[in-house]
Amino acid sequence: MTYDDSIQGAEATVVEDTFLGRRALVKIRPPKSYRLTELDDHIRTVRTKNEAKIMHDAREAGVRTPCIYDIDLSKFSITMEFIDGIAIKDVLDEHPERADEICEKIGIAVSKLHSAGICHGDLTTSNMILENDEVCLIDFSMGCTKAELEDIGVDLRLLERAFSSAHVGLESSFEKLMETYYANVSNPKQVKKKLIDIKNRARYT
Ligand SMILES: Nc1ncnc2c1ncn2[C@@H]1O[C@H](COP(=O)(O)OP(=O)(O)OP(=O)(O)O)[C@@H](O)[C@H]1O
Ligand SMILES: [Mg+2]
Repeated sequence: MTYDDSIQGAEATVVEDTFLGRRALVKIRPPKSYRLTELDDHIRTVRTKNEAKIMHDAREAGVRTPCIYDIDLSKFSITMEFIDGIAIKDVLDEHPERADEICEKIGIAVSKLHSAGICHGDLTTSNMILENDEVCLIDFSMGCTKAELEDIGVDLRLLERAFSSAHVGLESSFEKLMETYYANVSNPKQVKKKLIDIKNRARYT
């Protein structure tokens, strides 16, 4: 494998490959030269393991995520199923008429995730792929399991901010997303209250 046709993300490099004849995507965490080597290796190991574990747990909770094919901690890499679809960010930009339908699907996916005690950590429409009309969540490196109400609130707040900055004009579709979310979690009142708390905190600090 080479880095020639790789894409450099904020943290990781992704490159298309094959794994046992299947189309795969390899996500590698390159070293950060500004960090001490030992610390850098530790951070890259923890993030690689964390991402693979959460992706697996989310799948078990019924959320569409890439299947993990392999983890190589000597290379800080995860080989996963290649999701053949379009980033939801782009779908919403190009087909705003589909926003309601897609937002409902996002609401269901996030409700399943949170109901299983998993938070994503970077819920933006760039980290969601529409594959055959199904929402697939990717990029779980900042996620956590055993999520507390606070983590869940922060996750939703991030999603809300991602929507308001990247998808101006889709406010009513975002409301549908949240309605669907609340209809599918067991504690909608507590989550609503937590979101208000988080917004107020941001306003006064
Ligand atoms: N399993 C996959 N199948 C297809 N494409 C993928 C897959 N995983 C990641 N990608 C593509 O690679 C990009 C970067 O992956 P990811 O978001 O996991 O890494 P990142 O380094 O956190 O990137 P970012 O700069 O978005 O934070 C995604 O936005 C997506 O286009
Ligand atoms: Mg990403």
